[in-house]
Amino acid sequence: MLKTAPFPEALRKIASDYGTPTYVYFEQTVLDRINSLKTHLAGLPLQLLYAMKANHAVPIMERMKKEGLGIDAVSPAELLLALKLGFPTEKILFSANNMTDHEMHFAIQQGVILNVGELSRLEKLGKAYPGTSVCVRLNPQIGAGHHKHVITAGTESKFGIPVEQIEEIHAISKKYDLHIQGLHQHIGSGILDTDTLWKAISVMLNASISFERLEFINMGGGLGIPYKANETGIPMDEFESKIVTPLKRFIADHPSDGLHIWFEPGRYFTAECGVLLATVNTLKETEHITFAGVDSGMNHLIRPAMYGAFHEVVNLTNPDGELKPYDVVGNICESADFFARGRLIQELREGDVVAVLDAGAYGMSMANMYNLRSLPAEIFVPADSQIPHAFRSRKTAEQLVDAELLNV
Ligand SMILES: Cc1ncc(COP(=O)(O)O)c(C=O)c1O
Repeated sequence: MLKTAPFPEALRKIASDYGTPTYVYFEQTVLDRINSLKTHLAGLPLQLLYAMKANHAVPIMERMKKEGLGIDAVSPAELLLALKLGFPTEKILFSANNMTDHEMHFAIQQGVILNVGELSRLEKLGKAYPGTSVCVRLNPQIGAGHHKHVITAGTESKFGIPVEQIEEIHAISKKYDLHIQGLHQHIGSGILDTDTLWKAISVMLNASISFERLEFINMGGGLGIPYKANETGIPMDEFESKIVTPLKRFIADHPSDGLHIWFEPGRYFTAECGVLLATVNTLKETEHITFAGVDSGMNHLIRPAMYGAFHEVVNLTNPDGELKPYDVVGNICESADFFARGRLIQELREGDVVAVLDAGAYGMSMANMYNLRSLPAEIFVPADSQIPHAFRSRKTAEQLVDAELLNV
């Protein structure tokens, strides 16, 4: 069974009006996911952040702000974008990896919350800004994720201060009179296993007891979504019973003024809102394989090449065609450049438009201009009017070349 494309009529019209390759984002789906998570977490003293690395499209970010979400930003430009869009500084967490002095000073000047994942940075922060407030990213030594490259905790991981080094955190904060206002973890992405998630969360809860005046514990993101028709994503009933209920119990047992629980998903909010549209322009039969070559590629959606990730590919313009096996490949000069291998898809003809589903997270935000090809166009479909609008256009070869020559 194939997953079905959301709003296929609208997608066909967008492909015809704006051409391909094009990303399309449906705002209603983002709203549904935000509301669903708020419902599952109801009753907790909660603050949701959005990990904007998943998709920093401005109309999506604006929706996040309207819904009261904060932002997890990991680079100066992400931080600046969040600030310019008006997210309140007390809801912005700056979690740069290998933070530089310059980035630290910049974030402090902006008044956002720094999330520090190395003892050496904590020491530098203390020296430069004694008495300041800060969040500390811990490595609970439990990681999880859909692929080893997205596991962000555990003994092999570069992220966070190992939980065994809590005494060092206390020593540095005492030395510089730092106020540890929050603890943070993010153990990985595309997690479907609530037991592992809970194990990591309980490490955080135990660790939190030795910190006074904590304002929040941020449990990170990582919630998986169903990429395949027979998948369900992270089981939300288990999420409630194994995670939310014990969290409520912890809060009740450890009453502390104003302690909030934060989560900061990216994928959960945006993956399912996005579709990448591409046109089949080349069919090639070999002895064993029918290749369907499209006008997009791994430069636009790198997840299949990088993680072997599955994205459903459906034929929008021949939806009732007989299912046949295809390798759907891109136009980039790499053999890793594929969207699907040996995949049953409604018969593809040259000129057909395909929809690559669930591409709203880590699609465009990881896209690049390899082979000097343009980024795709981006279209936003608002929840209220449903009238699509383009907020990024594709560049012509001339525009790309002019931009290169400007740099000389
Ligand atoms: C610190 C941090 N928080 C949140 C996220 C969001 O993860 P996800 O999209 O799986 O929810 C990431 C993703 O890498 C991250 O690095």
